[in-house]
Amino acid sequence: WLPPPYSVPMTIPPVLAPARRTSDSDFYEIEIAETSQEILPGIQTKVLTYAGCFPGPTIQAEQGRKTVVAQINKMYTDAAVHLHGANVPASSDGYPMDVIKPNKTRVYNYPNAQPAGTLWYHDHAHHLEAEQVYRGLAGAYLLSDSVEQQIPLPRGEFDVPLLIRDAKFDHNGQLVWVFDDFLDRPTMLVNGRPQPYFTVKPSLYRLRLFNVSNIEPFRFRLDNGALFLQIGSDGGLLPSPALLQEIELFPSERADVLVDFRSTAPGTSVALENIATSPAAAQKRQVMQFRVAGVDSARRLDLDAVRGWQDGRVPQEYAPAEGWPVAAPPLPPATQQRRFVLHFDVKQEKFLINGREFDANRVDATVKLGSTEIWEIVNADGALGIAHAMHLHLVQFRVLDRNGKPEPAHDAYPKDTVRLHPGDTVHISVTFNSFVGRYPFHCHFIDHASHSMMGQFEVVP
Ligand code: C2O
Ligand code: CU
Repeated sequence: WLPPPYSVPMTIPPVLAPARRTSDSDFYEIEIAETSQEILPGIQTKVLTYAGCFPGPTIQAEQGRKTVVAQINKMYTDAAVHLHGANVPASSDGYPMDVIKPNKTRVYNYPNAQPAGTLWYHDHAHHLEAEQVYRGLAGAYLLSDSVEQQIPLPRGEFDVPLLIRDAKFDHNGQLVWVFDDFLDRPTMLVNGRPQPYFTVKPSLYRLRLFNVSNIEPFRFRLDNGALFLQIGSDGGLLPSPALLQEIELFPSERADVLVDFRSTAPGTSVALENIATSPAAAQKRQVMQFRVAGVDSARRLDLDAVRGWQDGRVPQEYAPAEGWPVAAPPLPPATQQRRFVLHFDVKQEKFLINGREFDANRVDATVKLGSTEIWEIVNADGALGIAHAMHLHLVQFRVLDRNGKPEPAHDAYPKDTVRLHPGDTVHISVTFNSFVGRYPFHCHFIDHASHSMMGQFEVVP
């Protein structure tokens, strides 16, 4: 009942239309509900959806205009909606205890004061989030700004979100949920379709790669050896674009990349492969396929326009020297250091931070508004071979080093989630200069977070 790889066409989540607009805000209404969707051909699968979509519809936002979303919970369980990567007041953060009860509505206010970025929204109801995200509660939130708009980037149909995850289906084509099932979620889904194909024009594409899987790390490459030009990471544009053969994304990490199909011969297919080495990666190698359509005459010129991506140099129009408008921000001196150790306690069968479970009544770090801190984050599960990924709400941070070596620039900033291979130690520099209040930090292997690998910091004046 699973279709052969690359036999199902990919779909792109619809862009959500605002219910109304004012001079400075866009208002949306979303129902969170169980619905049925065709994921596998000819089969209706029960999923959880935002606005009836699997994955959720894309929300487009612009810096300087506010987004206001009324979330109406039509499920039988609690919901909480977190806008991942966003700088928002605590009351709109989707804090795990701050739930929307069944048949209730909650209005979230997003100021969109931060720079352009590839964000996403997902469920965060305490202890339920892992299952509810797995069943479909995740969607893209694309924030744009004038800096991004002045760069010659592919737009419209050439700017494509790819929400990539794994899943397991039973023999009736229904999703199977088993907590922390890292060995047995064999089916790759892109935008909710199994190993799809996507017909592209011989053109330049901007692909927003999201790892929205619960617990599966990915390492992507294109099977024809073509390069990715990475222009952005989790929280926005990179200070320097980087040409890369491979892109590693742990759960909830994003990469904003350009891929050049202009010199790919029409009729060719190019596969996006996952070459990660996690325990079950081998069965998740084939992710999706790009099929380059015939040359349409309007774009024929492009074929000669730019070549040379394969020589390892960033194309001129994206090279910092040619006016790439994003600068690396200064690194303020840190006034506080902290250490957080992520560890799976085999006896208790619990995922812990500094040996403790999440406790909503305990603040694990009190941080001063306006201050910069250095956090050392340790994955103490080297021997168990367990990977983790640390995510902080509210902020974008900089990864300074990993196991004593400086983090490559394209993986360093702006980040809201840092990957931790088994045994890794990283240092991150975080500046808390916007809102006060309590926010969680947690492993974004979301099954781990649902089972206690979470803490909270409180920003105080
Ligand atoms: Cu996407 Cu608290 O996380
Ligand atoms: Cu973890």
